Amino acid sequence: MRQHDVVIVGAGLAGLRAALEMAGKVDVAVVSKVYPSRSHSGAAQGGVAAAMANEDEKDSVDSHEFDTVKGSDYLGDQDAIAIMTSEAPETIIEMERLGCVFSRDSKGRIAQREFGGHSHPRACYAADRTGHALLHVLYEQSYKHKQNITYYNEWYLLNLIYEDGSARGITMINIKTGEIEVIHAKTVIFGTGGYGRAYRITSNAFANTGDGIMATLRAGLPLEDMEFVQFHPTGLYQQGILMSEAARGEGGYLINSKGERFMEKYAKSRMELAPRDIVSRAEQTEINEGRGIDGKDFIYIDLRHLGREKILEKLPQIRQLAIDFLGVDCIDHPIPIQPTAHYSMGGIPVNNDCQVIRDSQKTKVPGFFAAGECACVSVHGANRLGTNSLLDACVFGRRAGKAALAYTIEARHEKINEAEEVRKARKRIDDLLNTPATESANDIRNDLKDAMSKNVGVYRSKEGLTAGKVALKALQQRFKKVRVTDKGRLFNTEIIEALELANMLEYSELIIEGALARTESRGAHARTDFPKRDDENWMKHTLAYKKPDGSIQLEYKPVVVTKHQPQERKY
Ligand code: FUM
Repeated sequence: MRQHDVVIVGAGLAGLRAALEMAGKVDVAVVSKVYPSRSHSGAAQGGVAAAMANEDEKDSVDSHEFDTVKGSDYLGDQDAIAIMTSEAPETIIEMERLGCVFSRDSKGRIAQREFGGHSHPRACYAADRTGHALLHVLYEQSYKHKQNITYYNEWYLLNLIYEDGSARGITMINIKTGEIEVIHAKTVIFGTGGYGRAYRITSNAFANTGDGIMATLRAGLPLEDMEFVQFHPTGLYQQGILMSEAARGEGGYLINSKGERFMEKYAKSRMELAPRDIVSRAEQTEINEGRGIDGKDFIYIDLRHLGREKILEKLPQIRQLAIDFLGVDCIDHPIPIQPTAHYSMGGIPVNNDCQVIRDSQKTKVPGFFAAGECACVSVHGANRLGTNSLLDACVFGRRAGKAALAYTIEARHEKINEAEEVRKARKRIDDLLNTPATESANDIRNDLKDAMSKNVGVYRSKEGLTAGKVALKALQQRFKKVRVTDKGRLFNTEIIEALELANMLEYSELIIEGALARTESRGAHARTDFPKRDDENWMKHTLAYKKPDGSIQLEYKPVVVTKHQPQERKY
C-alpha cells in the first residue's frame, strides 16, 4: 500500500494549484489519467476573467460579481461568487509572477478583451491559448517541487475510499501495467474535470468522463445541479472543437443562411456577446427554423472583416484548428459552427473552502475536498460566463490547497481495509472481463451520445427527456453484456474505456432525472414545455443521491442570495 498525507486526483489547473499550495509542507501525491500537461484545462482558449480595469477603468469587482450572478440566471451562490470575483485580480498577478506570459496592450499592461455576459473587457489572455499557458506554468512550478510531490501519471481512479463518513484514500489502476493499488491518505482532493463526453458534439477532451464525480456518487455522496450542461455557441461543425468566444470578443459575427446577424433578434444590446445559454439557443432556433447554412445544422462565424493581421495575432490557434479539421481558413472564409457541449455546471457539492458537503445542511465530509470543474461551489449556477472557469480553477484550487493543508496538519491516517478495497476494485474489472460479452462498447457509447444530444441538449421537454431516459435504461442493460476483447493487463485501454463508459451511462441518468424534475427554464436548462424561469419554486440547487436499490433520489438546497434579488435578465 502506498501512503501519502494528501492525494490529489487530477492534474489540471485546480489540482496542480492545490498541489503547489501544499508542496513542501505535507507529503503530496498527484494522480492523473493523462500526463499532466495534457489535462483538459489546456484546451481553454479565450481568457481568464478579472476586473483589472486595464482596458476600461470603469470595471470593478462589483461589476464582475453582478455579471456573474446575472449570467448564472441567479442560481449561483452569491457568497461564493463574491469570493471568486474579489480574489480574481490578485490571482492574475500571481499567475503572471509564476511565469504566465499574458498578451499585452499598447501600454504594456496585461491585455483584456470582451467576452459574453461581461459588461467590460475583462478577459486576460494569452492569444487564444490561455488555458495552455496557465497549465504549463502550474505544471512547471509544481514540478519544481518534485522532491515533495509524487506524480502518478497515467493512473486511473477506480474508487474513493470512504468509511464511517470520512475520505481515507483512493484505489487506482496503473494504465501501463494493470496493477491495482491503494493510496492511503489523510486527505483526498478531486480536481477531475467535467462530464461533457456523453454528447455527440462536444468540446471536451476524451478524458472528461466524470470519473471523480462518479467515484463520489458510488461512495454514497450526492452530486449537485447535474442537469446544467453548458452548450458553447461556437463548436467547429461536426467536430465540436472549440472556436473560442474570443473570436466574438474580437468582433466576429454570427450569420445564418440569409446572411443575417440574427443575434439582433435575441439579444439586441449584447448581440454575439450575450451569455452562452442565450446565444446557443438563438443558434439552435435558427437551425430548427430552417435558417442553418444550406438548411443544415450549422451556421457561420464570420471573422473576415477582422483582417489577417488581427487574426494571426489574436486568434492563431482557432484559425489553425479550422484549417486542420475542416480545411477552412477564416481569413478568407466564414467558419461553419454549431453549439457544442462544453462545460459541466454541476458536480461535487462543496463549501467555499472546497470541502465536500453531503447534504442540504452543508455537513462537511472530513478529509474530502474538490475544486475546478468537477466541483459545484456553485459560482456558475445555471450558466457559466466564459473565462470564469479558468478563474474558478485557479481561485478555488488555491483555496482547496489552503483548507486541505490546514485540515491535513491536524489529521491522522484513519484505518482502512486495503485488501477489501483492492478486492472491490478488482471485482469491478473482473466483472467486465467475464461478462457474457455480446455488446460493443463503441456502439453503446455512440447510441448514448445520440440519445443525449437528441433529447437532453440545448432544448429539452418532458417528452424528449422521457425518451432519453428510456433509451438510457436500455443502454445500461446492454452494458451488462459489454465485450472487452483484450484480456491482458498491459495498456489495456479497452478496460479503461469500458469503465469510463460505465461512468457516462450512470451520470447521464442524473442529468436526465434532474432535468425532468426541474419544471422551469433557467440558464442552460431550457424546457420548451416550461419556458419561464420560476423563482418561486426553483431558487434551489438539486442534490442527487444514488440509493442502494440503484434508484436516484433528489433533494434540494436553497441558493445563497446576498445582494442581488433575482430579476428578469435582459441583454
Ligand atoms: O471560448 C472560449 O475561449 C472558452 C472559454 C471558457 O470556456 O471559459
